Amino acid sequence: MPIQWFPGHMHLTRQAIGERIKGIDVVIELLDARLPGSSENPLLNELTRAKPKLKLLNKQDLADIGVTEQWLAHYNARPETKAMAIDASNALSAKKLIDMCRALAPSRVGMAKPLRVLVCGIPNVGKSTLINSLMNKRAAKTGDEAGITRTEQRIALARDFHLYDTPGVLWPRISLEKSGYNLAASGAVGRNAYDDQEVALELLGYLVQHYAQRLAARYDIAQPEPEAPEDWLENIARQRGALQSGGRIDPQKASELVIGDFRHGEFGRVSLETPEEFGAWQAQQKLADEARASRKRP
Ligand code: G4P
Repeated sequence: MPIQWFPGHMHLTRQAIGERIKGIDVVIELLDARLPGSSENPLLNELTRAKPKLKLLNKQDLADIGVTEQWLAHYNARPETKAMAIDASNALSAKKLIDMCRALAPSRVGMAKPLRVLVCGIPNVGKSTLINSLMNKRAAKTGDEAGITRTEQRIALARDFHLYDTPGVLWPRISLEKSGYNLAASGAVGRNAYDDQEVALELLGYLVQHYAQRLAARYDIAQPEPEAPEDWLENIARQRGALQSGGRIDPQKASELVIGDFRHGEFGRVSLETPEEFGAWQAQQKLADEARASRKRP
């Protein structure tokens, strides 16, 4: 079942986003380093085409180092775009961020007006944590539930540098099925929008393919490894005592366990997509959309 999620309070119209972006010099988009492609909002790129962009791949401490390098190269190859991997929960140097933004808008340096920088990101990507860390205090609220930041803030990080935090501008626009699963696994979409078991099986499918040994180690599952994600889920449930009466496994409990372990980095540093894989998903989706459109044409 494809995942779709457009919560009311996050639904700002295209026009409103366009208006908000006027007068902004640099756009910072926070991405989840474990799923940069899926956590990037295509609408934001469309609406900020002419603005320089800084892509911050957050939660890099949880992501696969080699895959993060691939994503950084991918974004740094785009015009007027710089990318950096960060861990927002560790104190981030405001100076470094300011310098990077200034380098992206060289024509604004030395002008009387402050540099105006908009910070965007889908829910749970770490925006409040980043802002707290830049401000060196716990002002913005952080939390586990998607979309907790509600009011707009303007933060003067320096006399000539203003950061605008506009909550609700970005909701995940899920056009790829795989992205939906990855976003759900990361905690970016509300719990009512997805089925835990489906998300856990997709997640296990990817982890078995790329990080099978880590999975086996985490759950102390003996070799030979079962191949199918369903077998893994069953083994994990048995190993962890996620059972119902009569000794049958409790797939819901086991699924929540696997998703929680992923969110908390219990498998070590893992990423759920490479630029190449993400590109292939996009190409497949394009073909499927074209086929659907041609079937509809008389
Ligand atoms: P949001 O404003 O974008 O919605 O996200 P928020 O800052 O609330 O962060 C969501 C969760 O992600 C928080 O965890 C936060 O601690 C965690 N987080 C943010 N940045 C990083 C990072 O770079 N690395 C890691 N490992 N985690 C990060 P939480 O469990 O919901 O709350 P908390 O109890 O940890 O504060």
